[in-house]
Amino acid sequence: MGSEKYGKLRTYKSHRHFKIILVAIPTIITLSTTKCYQLLFHTNFPTINIITKSSPLKWSESNIAAYMKQHPQRAYFSRLMVDGGFQAGMEVGAADGRFTQHFLQDMKRTTDAKERTSSSHLQQWYKKWFPSRSRQWAWTMVEPYPNDELNQKYDVRDDGASGQWNRDGLLENVDLSFIKRKSLSYVFDIPDESHDFIYLDGDHSFAGVKAELPRFWDKVREGGVLAGSDYCNIDSKKVENSLPCKGCENVPKCQPSTELGVSSSGKDIVKAVQEWLMEKNDDRLTLYHIDEDFTNDSLSGEITNTRNPSWFIVKPLN
Ligand SMILES: C[S@@+](CC[C@H](N)C(=O)[O-])C[C@H]1O[C@@H](n2cnc3c(N)ncnc32)[C@H](O)[C@@H]1O
Repeated sequence: MGSEKYGKLRTYKSHRHFKIILVAIPTIITLSTTKCYQLLFHTNFPTINIITKSSPLKWSESNIAAYMKQHPQRAYFSRLMVDGGFQAGMEVGAADGRFTQHFLQDMKRTTDAKERTSSSHLQQWYKKWFPSRSRQWAWTMVEPYPNDELNQKYDVRDDGASGQWNRDGLLENVDLSFIKRKSLSYVFDIPDESHDFIYLDGDHSFAGVKAELPRFWDKVREGGVLAGSDYCNIDSKKVENSLPCKGCENVPKCQPSTELGVSSSGKDIVKAVQEWLMEKNDDRLTLYHIDEDFTNDSLSGEITNTRNPSWFIVKPLN
């Protein structure tokens, strides 16, 4: 009786061990191949990038704020992707694609430089045969009215295959998506906490931006950045009506040297962002803005013709 019971116990134990081994071996193999891949290719699996909530390599809020203070131009947001551990970004209101192009160029320059110094044959072989798995970043452009200039760079009809960006190799390292929809019709299709950087530059009306803010905020991962354009007061003589939120004081002036003249929507964006921040009532949130320090000469660069300040908020880690 006793030995029968003991025998059952042994069978039960060996079953349990078998089950543990069944789970443990594939887990160890998956983890170790992932690690080997990362060590070999100095990168993460792109598919994991999209799913992972937050990269451990991501810059902290204080790093981001200090960096953007030292480099007060929105062009430097691309460095968050390249150096700051950000993986998935989005521009809402892509217009003719100049700002997106700047990000793509920065990513390509960085990857090319890295490959020149550390690329192995195996790495090159992997990139050639598994191009989609080798992509390090994901980028989405949202633009309901793609114009001819954008179509020349990224022809939306053939997913960019015949456009200039593809010919220049700008799409090699980036999983690029083009969404021909308005922000508020698309936002519900984006998974929550799926993006590290979202730049709002589409709708510039008070009601539009106010409606976008909470919805796009949900799409930003912890440690990521929600940002937007045209955060400024149009009338330099008027005293600004800042709300008592963190970072809301000292609203910058709209700058006169833009291709469109002074933005008239700036004050609506200031009001929408500050009101939303007050409603969030979360004392961990700070509103930052970038005093664009372009000169008149650099305004005519490829990136942008606008020097209106951008705003940004970093999503705290929970
Ligand atoms: C000021 S431009 C964007 C400039 C561009 N981000 C840049 O930095 O070069 C605004 C763009 O937003 C687009 N737009 C307008 N309403 C939109 C909306 N609700 N959702 C997304 N894009 C929108 C317009 O078609 C236009 O191309």
